[in-house]
Amino acid sequence: MAEPIRVVVTGAAGQIAYSLLYMISKGDVFGPNQPVILHLLDIPPMMGVLEGVVMELNDCAIPILRGVVPTDDPAVAFKDVSAAFLVGAMPRKQGMERKDLLAANVKIFKVQGEALDKHAKKDVKVLVVGNPANTNALICSRYAPSIPKENFTAMTRLDQNRALAEIARAINKPVDSVKNVVIWGNHSSTQFPDASSATVDMDGKIFNVVEVLKDDVWLNTTFVETIQKRGAAVIAARKMSSAMSAAKAASDHMRTWFRGTAPGEYVSMGVLSDGSYGAPKDVIFSFPVTVMGGKWSIVQGLKLNDNAKAMLTKTGDELCEERQEALVVIEA
Ligand SMILES: NC(=O)c1ccc[n+]([C@@H]2O[C@H](COP(=O)([O-])OP(=O)(O)OC[C@H]3O[C@@H](n4cnc5c(N)ncnc54)[C@H](O)[C@@H]3O)[C@@H](O)[C@H]2O)c1
Repeated sequence: MAEPIRVVVTGAAGQIAYSLLYMISKGDVFGPNQPVILHLLDIPPMMGVLEGVVMELNDCAIPILRGVVPTDDPAVAFKDVSAAFLVGAMPRKQGMERKDLLAANVKIFKVQGEALDKHAKKDVKVLVVGNPANTNALICSRYAPSIPKENFTAMTRLDQNRALAEIARAINKPVDSVKNVVIWGNHSSTQFPDASSATVDMDGKIFNVVEVLKDDVWLNTTFVETIQKRGAAVIAARKMSSAMSAAKAASDHMRTWFRGTAPGEYVSMGVLSDGSYGAPKDVIFSFPVTVMGGKWSIVQGLKLNDNAKAMLTKTGDELCEERQEALVVIEA
C-alpha cells in the first residue's frame, strides 16, 4: 500500500467538516488504497468539540485512516500537507450579505496563506470552501508566494452539482447522465449557471440538454435563479448553511483535481483567471476546466451569447470589487 499522505481540514469542528472528514477518511477523495493522516485545525474555544470529532473518527475504525492530529496551531496543521480543505470561516447567517463576511474572513486566509507557505508541501493542492470562497482563495495565494498560484482554487462544485441535479430532474433522467453544465464567476448570487453546452446521455447517445428540454425560457430564468439562490433557500429552510451537500462537493472537487476528468467531461472550479472569455485577470473566477495529471486547464472555445457575456461581466465586476475591498481590509 502507498505511504500515507497528510491532509488538512480547517474548521474541523464545524458542520461541513463533520460530513467531509468521514468522506476523506473512507477513501472517497484519494481512493480506497491511499492511507491518509488527517490534520484538523480549529480555533481554541472549539478544541473540546474537536476532541469529540477525533473520538468519532477513531470509532469509525477505518483501516486507511492512519492518524488524526487535532490542533489550534496553523504551524502544526499545515505541516507537510499534500491537500488542504480550507473550510473554517464565519458562516453566512440568514439575512447576512456576503460583503459583511468579507472583512471578517480575509484576515483568516492571510494567516493561513502564510502558514501554508512556511509549512506545507510546495505542490499542496488548496481548496477554499469558506466564504467568500473566491476572494479568500486569492488572498491565501498572495500570502503563499512559494506555492504556485494554480494550486489555489475555490469551490463552485456545489453550484455545479445543484445545477446537474436540477436539470436531471427537469428532463427526468439520472443525475450521472447529465454533464458539462458550467458555473461561471463568483460563488455568489451573481454566478452564471450555464446549461448551453450541457449534454445528456440517453441510452448511450449524447444529446444537447437545450434541444432535449426545449424550454429556453425556463433555462434562462427559473433555472438560473434557482441555482443562484439555492444557498439562501437552504439557509431559510434549515436555519443553517448547506453542509452535507457542501462536503460532498468539496470531496468531488478534490477527487477530480487529484484523479482527473473523464474524456469529454469538464467540471467547474474557481481558478486564477488568465482573462479567458473576457473575464477579469487575477481574480479567482469559476471556469469550465479539464484536469489531467493533477493540473487543470480552462476549456476554450465555448460559445457565449450576449446574455451570457453580460452575466460574466456582472460576476467578474463583483469579484474585482471583492478583491478591492479585501486588499483595503488587509492593508489597513
Ligand atoms: N463554497 C461553497 O459552496 C460553500 C457552501 C457551503 C458553505 N460554505 C462556507 O463554508 C464555511 C464553513 O461552513 P460550516 O457550515 O462548516 O460552518 P460552521 O460554523 O459549522 O464551522 C466553521 C468552523 O470554522 C471554525 N473556524 C473559524 N475560524 C477559524 C480559523 N481561523 N481557523 C480554523 N477554524 C476556524 C469555527 O470555529 C467552526 O468550527 C462558511 O464560510 C460557509 O459560508 C461554502
